[in-house]
Amino acid sequence: MKKLLTLLLVCLVFAACDDKKSGNAEMDKFIDDLMGQMTLEEKIGQLNLPSSGDITTGEAKSSNIAEKIKAGQVGGLFNIKGVEKIKEVQRIAVEESRLKIPLIFGMDVIHGYETVFPIPLGMAATFDRAAIEQSARIAATEASADGICWTFSPMVDISRDPRWGRVSEGSGEDPYLGGEIAKAMVYGYQGRGDDAYKSNNQIMACVKHYALYGAAEAGRDYGTTDMSRMRMFNEYMYPYQAAVDAGVGSVMASFNEVDGVPATANKWLMTDVLRDQWGFDGFVVTDYTGIMEMIDHGIGDMQEVSARALDAGVDMDMVSEGFLSTLKQSVEEGKVTEEQLNLACRRILEAKYKLGLFDDPYKYCDAERAKKEIYTDEHRTIARQTAAKSFVLLKNDNNTLPLDKKGTVAVIGPLANSSSNMPGTWSVAVNLVAPKTLVEGIKDVVGDKARVTYAKGSHLISDAAYEERATMFGRTLNREQEKRTDAQMLAEALSVARNADVIVAALGESSEMSGESSSRTDLGIPDVQKTLLKELLKTGKPVVLVLFAGRPMTLTWEDENVPAILNVWFGGTEAAPAIGDVLFGDVSPSGKLPATFPQNVGQVPLFYNHKNTGRPLAQGQWFQKFRSNYLDVSNEPLYPFGYGLSYTQFDYSDVRLSATEIDGNGELTATVTVTNKGKYDSDEVVQLYIRDLVGSVTRPVRELKDFERVTIKAGESKDVSFTITPEKLKFYNADIQFVNEPGDFDVMIGGNSRDVKTARFKLK
Ligand code: BGC
Repeated sequence: MKKLLTLLLVCLVFAACDDKKSGNAEMDKFIDDLMGQMTLEEKIGQLNLPSSGDITTGEAKSSNIAEKIKAGQVGGLFNIKGVEKIKEVQRIAVEESRLKIPLIFGMDVIHGYETVFPIPLGMAATFDRAAIEQSARIAATEASADGICWTFSPMVDISRDPRWGRVSEGSGEDPYLGGEIAKAMVYGYQGRGDDAYKSNNQIMACVKHYALYGAAEAGRDYGTTDMSRMRMFNEYMYPYQAAVDAGVGSVMASFNEVDGVPATANKWLMTDVLRDQWGFDGFVVTDYTGIMEMIDHGIGDMQEVSARALDAGVDMDMVSEGFLSTLKQSVEEGKVTEEQLNLACRRILEAKYKLGLFDDPYKYCDAERAKKEIYTDEHRTIARQTAAKSFVLLKNDNNTLPLDKKGTVAVIGPLANSSSNMPGTWSVAVNLVAPKTLVEGIKDVVGDKARVTYAKGSHLISDAAYEERATMFGRTLNREQEKRTDAQMLAEALSVARNADVIVAALGESSEMSGESSSRTDLGIPDVQKTLLKELLKTGKPVVLVLFAGRPMTLTWEDENVPAILNVWFGGTEAAPAIGDVLFGDVSPSGKLPATFPQNVGQVPLFYNHKNTGRPLAQGQWFQKFRSNYLDVSNEPLYPFGYGLSYTQFDYSDVRLSATEIDGNGELTATVTVTNKGKYDSDEVVQLYIRDLVGSVTRPVRELKDFERVTIKAGESKDVSFTITPEKLKFYNADIQFVNEPGDFDVMIGGNSRDVKTARFKLK
């Protein structure tokens, strides 16, 4: 009996150790052998991720980084561009370091590489899983052809606060949509299941910023987050988990604190939830200087915060060099164990093994591919089609759009003649002079059928210092070269406008008015541009507002006064011709808003899947005393989640259910017939929402649970069906268990979250 118990104990100990290994015997053996040869310093070196530093400008061979690589103090590098440069750095690692361990090369390939797709918020507006996966596939193909094997994408932070500049980098406000996009992007970059990393054009994804980075207080970047666990799991966590389910290879810790502990040192997040609950088996990297920043967060000195990060379950240190400079001492002093260090090192080596870098460190360094596979005509054609799908038609009175390809079209505004602003924020690999300007794109599309004229009309912003902040990183609008005053530019614009048949006003934000550390408190079109718009309207000519936006903006005045508004986000390198395609009717717009547009900033945060309260406002009411509302503005958004017009009209039938009751193992289908009643063939995004009418805890008034983008020809009808399973009806209860509760549910189907047809069923 005693022997049996001992045996059982030995088995358990072994099982526990094996737990830390991958279960892939070949990989485990390879890494065991390698780690057996590594010194403590070399193991710590694998956890170090400096940025490319002087390599971007200087000679790789003689740089400070090169010395560190030779000494085994670097696990990977990021943001070096160019296959030859990367090849040379890899050569140093595999020829001049003692153990010849290859480096991993990362980059922020966020919405494309040199062929840039719309900003992620725009990609989300396509509601097109296949197009999103394809965009990530193309990004991976181009980046890998240039030496990159790891991208810091997808960014899946849910945000309900358009003041936050990084709302542009994510998928908006909805967890289900965010989760679907997270999966599509991971598949696009890495491949699916066993197919991942098989080819030299599949790269490792990194889901970020874990966790809750989009819920920063007051929308100010890097801000504190504090929310209930129930809200976290029901409303914010799903996209990260979906990426893990899709097999994402790495996770990036966020800058913010969660529950009083910075995410980078938050063991509950990094180990209990991510690994133990969700089964994540890749590695965790900090965000840029994430470890060092915890000194300012106020939880210790460099040694302390580095030890806490490792202890929490963080494996790689981006830029801080806190691991490199303090972990040895922390092991010696018993602050962290060598086992913890081994585990982190193992995870980094596993990633390199999975990518195939031990078989061929130059797998991603084929200079021939770099010549043939980047910014190709094929990729650009797909990017143009995808951009057109992302544009959201917000208003179109009296069929102002589409425009005829005839007469004179005046394109006016500070964003009309800029190529560097077209790709949008976080497009680090782009060639900023490559994209066509809007004026050029429109000229291409109309050819010799119409005359296209241009005037700048105004600065971006009257305050020069603000404009400078809003045009960083080469996204210039050449203010310094512009010697004219706003009044002079306006006079020129009005004379151009008076001589035109129609005015396209290219206004809104510059690309750097959203993105990292670009929060705003005023979400309107900047002052001088609005003055220009008002003056253009006074000419009496038809005005189409082409709105450049990296976030939901406040457009109440524009909605009341401008006949047509096309929101084009930042559409990528092919944005300009794609805008032309839509303006002149070659393509009918079909994008839908992935985030609510408020009437004013005071309504923020405003989101469609809110709770009802005990004093909801009656449907259609504005103000009722002692109800949940405002004195000065209604509760309604300006444009609701899921909203977007097209050049045709879609008619939705009532919802037909295959059953009105299901049990825990059952399923039902909900079907609508959608009819294209207009004159244009067009895509429509059909959306399924569900409301759980009674729960043990309160439930949102509706939640997106499925969607489908369908193409319907003019005059035709299509049935669109969704399968509803009990799984789709689950939620996290007060004990944070993911459960079904029996009861009645409303199914709502429509072309946006407001205008829906409803049916009811029961879960038994
Ligand atoms: C951003 C990350 C990015 C990293 C590396 C940070 O400032 O928050 O999203 O991946 O820099 O460039």
